[in-house]
Amino acid sequence: MLEVRHITKQYTVKNQRKGENVFTSVDDISLKLKPDSSYALIGESGSGKSTLAMMMAAVLPPTHGEILMDGKDIWKLTPKERRRLRGDLQLVLQNSKGALDPRKTVYQSIEEPLKNLCQLSREEQQRTIYEIVEKVQLEKSLLTRKPNELSGGQQSRVCIARAMCLSPKFVIFDESVSGLDVTVQKKVLDLLLELRKEFHGTYLFITHDIDVALYMSDHIFVMKEGHLLDEVQNALSYDAFQHPYSRELIASLPPKSPHYRL
Ligand SMILES: Nc1ncnc2c1ncn2[C@@H]1O[C@H](COP(=O)(O)OP(=O)(O)O)[C@@H](O)[C@H]1O
Ligand SMILES: [Mg+2]
Repeated sequence: MLEVRHITKQYTVKNQRKGENVFTSVDDISLKLKPDSSYALIGESGSGKSTLAMMMAAVLPPTHGEILMDGKDIWKLTPKERRRLRGDLQLVLQNSKGALDPRKTVYQSIEEPLKNLCQLSREEQQRTIYEIVEKVQLEKSLLTRKPNELSGGQQSRVCIARAMCLSPKFVIFDESVSGLDVTVQKKVLDLLLELRKEFHGTYLFITHDIDVALYMSDHIFVMKEGHLLDEVQNALSYDAFQHPYSRELIASLPPKSPHYRL
């Protein structure tokens, strides 16, 4: 169980008069993610989704509040416990290209978390890499390539492989398919749905796209300006959303072709 309790993130930003303003990016959010479940988080750009994701993934310290994983505050762990947590809690970032080291080959990128977090022999490491590469449907011939020699969809798959090779309990996907064109996007989303069946973890899909959210999960959180405004369970269609802001989001969607289906 991953439990977020009254979490807040404030940034101090310089204003035009050379003074400082405090900006609250995430404001007193509480939520619970159960084991082996899938969730989506939607909200317009700037609503604080990535800030929340980074705090939940133990990348960015909160200003207030706590994040408990299996009852333990992840921001109060010993260095050893934190290392173990890295294997259990993964964040797949928004921009796959920026998330990969341009100097590393695909093989080296996937190898990195294994080297850092698992004590595997060279053979075991290689076997794990080959297995995960097959699961994310990347051709083995791509293992020697650098990120700039890959398509956007292939880069996404490398990032997913990197996160999944540790069989994490919790994976947060932050706009992981946003930059991709629609057909590639659908293929990557389908891959994630497949992987979830196999790995049995808890997934949180963060997106600004309500259709992607509905496609990926039926338990959806809605954020606006740092607040959690709505939480919808059994969200099978737009009709499930009752909160005025959620309705507003749906009303502002561009018109779709009658044949539209994600
Ligand atoms: N390091 C930072 N310093 C100051 N403000 C920040 C910083 N990071 C994010 N913000 C602000 O916090 C708000 C939420 O950002 P973010 O979490 O990236 O939103 P989202 O992912 O929903 O687009 C934005 O207004 C953004 O400008
Ligand atoms: Mg974001």
